[in-house]
Amino acid sequence: MNTQLDVAIVLAAGEGTRMKSQTPKVLHSIAGKTIIAHVLDQVTELKAKQVRVVVGHGRELVEPEIKAISPSATTVFQSERNGTGHAVQLALADLKATGTVLILAGDTPLLRSETLAEFLVAHSEAKNLVSVLTSQLPDPSGYGRIVRDETGSIVAIVEERDAPDEIKEIDEINTGVYLFDIAALRESVAKLKNDNSQGELYLTDVIAHIKSGTGKAAAILSFDYTETLGINDRSQLAECAAIMRDRINDSHMRAGVSIIDPTTTWIDFGVKIANDVTIYPGSALFGKTSIESGAIIGPRTSLNNVIVAKGASVIESNCTDCEIGAESTVGPFTFLRAGTKLAANSKAGAYVEIKNSTVGEGSKIPHLSYVGDATIGTGTNIGAATVFVNYDGVEKHRTEIGNEVRIGSDTMLVAPVTVGDGAYTAAGSIITENVPAGAIGVARAKQRNILGWVLRKRSGTRSAQAAAKAGATEEKGS
Ligand code: UD1
Ligand code: MG
Repeated sequence: MNTQLDVAIVLAAGEGTRMKSQTPKVLHSIAGKTIIAHVLDQVTELKAKQVRVVVGHGRELVEPEIKAISPSATTVFQSERNGTGHAVQLALADLKATGTVLILAGDTPLLRSETLAEFLVAHSEAKNLVSVLTSQLPDPSGYGRIVRDETGSIVAIVEERDAPDEIKEIDEINTGVYLFDIAALRESVAKLKNDNSQGELYLTDVIAHIKSGTGKAAAILSFDYTETLGINDRSQLAECAAIMRDRINDSHMRAGVSIIDPTTTWIDFGVKIANDVTIYPGSALFGKTSIESGAIIGPRTSLNNVIVAKGASVIESNCTDCEIGAESTVGPFTFLRAGTKLAANSKAGAYVEIKNSTVGEGSKIPHLSYVGDATIGTGTNIGAATVFVNYDGVEKHRTEIGNEVRIGSDTMLVAPVTVGDGAYTAAGSIITENVPAGAIGVARAKQRNILGWVLRKRSGTRSAQAAAKAGATEEKGS
């Protein structure tokens, strides 16, 4: 039996009007991957000798994506959308191949290559000239219906728009996935007519044509209808995204990841998660994020291209393009921006924002601080409400903080500035000059108390009453 696939044709020229979007339909994303990338990745698994994609609307945007996903695929331009049959005519026009061709739509991202491979086996075993993959939908409206005769074999596909009521009641639909003998397809598509409600050439009419000849045509029912859902509007996009989310979460859970609430946990395709990671509700893991064993993520945490090392915890936080070291703690309410590197056992606590900075092993920024463009050594503590003043209004400057430094609360570190190993800064200091190792930088006005001020200037207030009760007088003192 020959299960070699000679050609795969993906139809992706449609405008996707119902998406009401500036972005071509097939470039909308699900789980961090465009719809067309999902389809092409599955097609690639089948190892067809040639892959052709029919493009039209938004071609200048769609073609680069196709090149990036499947460099060996070729594109065919359909300047006017005259229907799926017309798209296939164009794809076949200069095609030299013979054998078997798979045709599918670029808007069905949930189809799995395993299902396509089984479909190919069934088609080859039965020696069909055409096989169409069908499914039974709870709500078949909008799809082409499969009409079978009394023996159960397919007679025709009727589009909903052209269907009388009794055909609309059929719940078996055309998924838009077909296998054809190339020669038979070539002969049949040449004969298509646009005598239908849309005035288009319907690829689906080829079935009845092949069937009316001597060719063997079959409709093969797929067992999982969710795989065959197509995306035409934003609700279907959300529906497919939720199915993909469940699939991705299931595969992580089977691999030993605890996902406390899979319905509110969204994980992109390329994310890597080791076993014994726990993900709490409301978390989203995007891009090339990777998480090592024992880490705790969430609740309500979003990570985009973040590397989280063993045993770290990231709670109620938003992190992008950064690295979080082993056993470190981040959050709650922490914002780690691009270029942040937290070494092992470090801490970025509540209401802390860090950008383009390295934080050494065991160092802590526990509360309410901004750290930008800095290098912080090991074992250092940054007091609450410290700001790394990195921007002079024109340029950004760096701050270097040594090992075992104690930055007092509410210090402004005006960059460029360096604080040496073991140095301190006094709370409330505005540090504009380097602090040498072992020194304390004090940069604040000396405090003076004006005795009796409240009793003199705010007499009669509750503060004045409390002060008087505590024994204060109007005396200025010395
Ligand atoms: C099509 C089928 C229908 C099936 C459904 C499955 C036809 C006539 N109808 O309907 O039986 O149930 O898919 O989802 O084939 N395209 C082009 N060029 C064109 C027109 C369409 O490339 O001129 C592409 C579209 O980008 C899309 C695919 O072909 O990827 C299907 O077109 P669409 O307009 O979505 O057809 P449906 O009405 O969904
Ligand atoms: Mg469609």
